[in-house]
Amino acid sequence: MRVLGIETSCDESAAAVAEDGVRLLSNVVASQVDLHARFGGVVPELASRAHLETINGCVEEALERAGVSWTDLDGIAVTNRPGLIGSLLVGLCAAKTYALCSGLSLVGVHHIEGHIAASFLLPDPPSFPFLALVASGGHTELILVHDHGRPEPIGSTRDDAAGEAFDKVARLLGLEQPGGPAIDRLAAQCDDGAERFPRAHLGDSLDFSYSGLKTAVARRIEALGPGIDDAARARIAHGFQMAAVEPLVMNAVRAAERHGVRHITIGGGVAANGLLRSWLAAEAESRGLRVHLPPPALCTDNAGMIAVAGCFALARGRRDGLDLDAYASAPLPVW
Ligand code: KG4
Ligand code: ZN
Repeated sequence: MRVLGIETSCDESAAAVAEDGVRLLSNVVASQVDLHARFGGVVPELASRAHLETINGCVEEALERAGVSWTDLDGIAVTNRPGLIGSLLVGLCAAKTYALCSGLSLVGVHHIEGHIAASFLLPDPPSFPFLALVASGGHTELILVHDHGRPEPIGSTRDDAAGEAFDKVARLLGLEQPGGPAIDRLAAQCDDGAERFPRAHLGDSLDFSYSGLKTAVARRIEALGPGIDDAARARIAHGFQMAAVEPLVMNAVRAAERHGVRHITIGGGVAANGLLRSWLAAEAESRGLRVHLPPPALCTDNAGMIAVAGCFALARGRRDGLDLDAYASAPLPVW
């Protein structure tokens, strides 16, 4: 089965072709990072317009790189929720038009369902049931994945998303957006001890909280004043990153142990973080758990993960009509 995936939920226009849900024939991402850079964050109206200009080119390139034509495909999968509504509508409208013209089946994919599906592309994919940690600019979720279409959310952020905290702290430190990769790089330059920032204690819960950490970092930067030097900024970046990553690691392993699952996967832009990847791998190994780490390019937004999720959905008979709609927020679908 070959499925074309289309993803436009935020600031990446992306198209990809997946085969049988286990390999990608192409994975094209057109980033809008430069477009939004001078505004210090994604401007929704600009994002929608840019998707409109780029998405058809991405689809053509994805088919060309995959070496397939429309008649070689079995369906079209598109992210239709959650995300920036104007951006989602552009991808959805493109997908519906292609489906109508080609006669191919259409299926709407939840963005988080896509991030989870990225791990099926690994040479050693997780076996069910597994625990998925999805941390991005809009989400911080722990999901017990019983099977395809059977996700059970068991932990979530109570305020800011992890990626949002990285982006806000980067802004406070005068770094470019998106802030995650910039903090990741600056933290690596710290060689004389990290700042210590508080962790949120949420008792037995598997939830997360990032607003207190962000405020603590803001206070520290304010206290250091305008004369803050590069070494101090690196110590703050390192300390923030440790405080942000620790709950992701600890909640993931606690959740896996509590629910008796041995496999952990990660997804979402924050899953590209170097410290998160190495810390989680070490912590899991010491507890006899297996961690599956998709490469960073499959953790950040891409259409390959949407095409993979689409393969499994279509294979199990899920279909949507041309009345499929887009939603800014939506729970994970059970089907
Ligand atoms: O999944 P994604 O590409 O888009 C959303 O669905 O939100 O995630 C983007 C988020 C941004 O907040 C970005 O700063 C963060 O992921 N991110 C990182 C890293 N790379 C991207 N955070 C920490 N370390 C990174 N290396
Ligand atoms: Zn995402």
